[in-house]
Amino acid sequence: MPVYLIGAGPGDPELITLKAVNILNKADVVMYDKLANEKILEHAPNAKLIYVGKKAGEHYKSQDEINKIIVNESKDNPNGNIVRLKGGDPFVFGRGGEEILDLIKENISFKIIPGVTSAIGAPASVGLPITHRAVATSFTVVTGHEDPTKNKKQVKWDYTADTIIVLMGIGNMKENTTEMMKYRDPKTPACVIENGTLENEKIIFGTLENIADKKINTPAILVVGNVVDVFKEIKDRN
Ligand SMILES: C[S@@+](CC[C@H](N)C(=O)[O-])C[C@H]1O[C@@H](n2cnc3c(N)ncnc32)[C@H](O)[C@@H]1O
Repeated sequence: MPVYLIGAGPGDPELITLKAVNILNKADVVMYDKLANEKILEHAPNAKLIYVGKKAGEHYKSQDEINKIIVNESKDNPNGNIVRLKGGDPFVFGRGGEEILDLIKENISFKIIPGVTSAIGAPASVGLPITHRAVATSFTVVTGHEDPTKNKKQVKWDYTADTIIVLMGIGNMKENTTEMMKYRDPKTPACVIENGTLENEKIIFGTLENIADKKINTPAILVVGNVVDVFKEIKDRN
């Protein structure tokens, strides 16, 4: 049986695909990390649930350790339905590619079930169009927290897309917006979507020059660009 790498969606437990639910229903093992909504695990009533994410006060499992757990579980249950469940989409800052490459090394087959990424799903659900005729013809999704152990920085903030969507960027918001202002007008509209698609969702408006001064909780994404002004027109009617 293949290992299923499944996207759980951005938070609202109904924003998961039917295909994902059908596989979870018959899952024998589910390995998951911090999900925006653990209600999704209710779709796997008979599965052994293995949490591989961060727990307060405990050692944080490295990606290598997680990869090993996935490989071992699939070897121990060659005929079982093994699921690796990830928030959003597994391939959008989800390290899904690394997990798949380790399965390939071990000759273990796999299937990927895409999920609604928070990068697109959170703006869409509040009514923020990340592209809009005559306003934005392109968007970039970028990490706001580049792995400090990398040899070479890849994020340069000189992106030419009309809309910039920053994930994992709340801790570094001041540094990131300062960098962006080298290439964009400081008055460019910006907004943060906190806990997108969840009951405690919050939207915070600002501009590139002041959004970092607002009080923001995680998880959250930052959206920068003139589409934020379009969103202001839509918001109160959504
Ligand atoms: C490690 S990345 C994983 C992204 C995930 N694979 C996806 O496609 O949404 C985690 C980041 O996603 C964003 N994020 C995830 N869920 C979110 C939510 N419900 N609301 C706002 N941002 C969210 C935050 O920027 C968070 O720091």
